Amino acid sequence: MSRPTSGKSTSGKSHSLRGHVALVTGSTRGIGLAIARALAAKGCDLVLTGRDHSALRRVSRELASTKSKILPHPCDLRDPQSIDDLFRAIRQKFKRLDILVNNAGIAHANLTVDKLPLPLWKDVLETNLTGMFLVTQAALAIMKRGGTIVNNLSIAATRVFVGSAAYAASKHGALGFTNTLREELRPQGIRVIALLPGATNTAIWNTFWPQAPRKKMMSPATVAQAVVNAIVLSPNATVETLEILPTAGTL
Ligand SMILES: NC(=O)c1ccc[n+]([C@@H]2O[C@H](COP(=O)([O-])OP(=O)(O)OC[C@H]3O[C@@H](n4cnc5c(N)ncnc54)[C@H](OP(=O)(O)O)[C@@H]3O)[C@@H](O)[C@H]2O)c1
Repeated sequence: MSRPTSGKSTSGKSHSLRGHVALVTGSTRGIGLAIARALAAKGCDLVLTGRDHSALRRVSRELASTKSKILPHPCDLRDPQSIDDLFRAIRQKFKRLDILVNNAGIAHANLTVDKLPLPLWKDVLETNLTGMFLVTQAALAIMKRGGTIVNNLSIAATRVFVGSAAYAASKHGALGFTNTLREELRPQGIRVIALLPGATNTAIWNTFWPQAPRKKMMSPATVAQAVVNAIVLSPNATVETLEILPTAGTL
């Protein structure tokens, strides 16, 4: 499979992703939805996932009005069978995958380690780390040279925030996973981008800091724009780490 040609204008600004297929995990809201919208604006065909069936229907109705082909498929990343079902549907409809955005993730209530319950620890690690591993493993079977994997980590992959030990462990672990994956896939010409956003105005903040100053945060669309700019780079160049922060810094 060759990489579909990017339609580049003379200004170099309008790279089309028509003919490419992208899977965005956690595309029912937040940063994942913004990335799905930005990819659709480039003509990319999309696989949308999440656990919330009604949000998935709403989002797929919205994106069906674009020229992109849309495959909505519910998936719970904590369940390997659910991931198998998702990839069966992808193979049936598209037979290929050019872009994987491992975006789905959860945070947890602000709790110091002595108060962090084991089920919560497991839930965060299964979603943010093991889910990313399982989806990537399934995706590699249908990704070819020229493909791109974007792993949405966080600045919490390199810094620590008191009360967020499980989130930090999952994101630090996912950064190690991402850096290893990049080296393994380098000879195959598959680019791996570590996305490290700072505070972005989404529902995730309700889990651990509902009163956070939203006005200081980036919009999901801003993060999505940076991601798509990195994806449409010439295939012989890559942004290995994309750290994007509000101008105000950390909150
Ligand atoms: N917002 C920030 O400030 C920020 C900063 C840095 C990094 N991030 C990272 O960005 C990613 C997206 O977060 P967000 O801020 O956009 O939060 P969000 O609005 O809460 O979105 C999270 C997405 O993940 C999906 N998801 C959660 N658990 C899932 C599971 N078990 N299986 C499948 N999908 C699941 C959710 O869909 P369903 O509920 O439908 O399952 C939803 O679409 C996360 O990895 C987060 O760690 C966020």
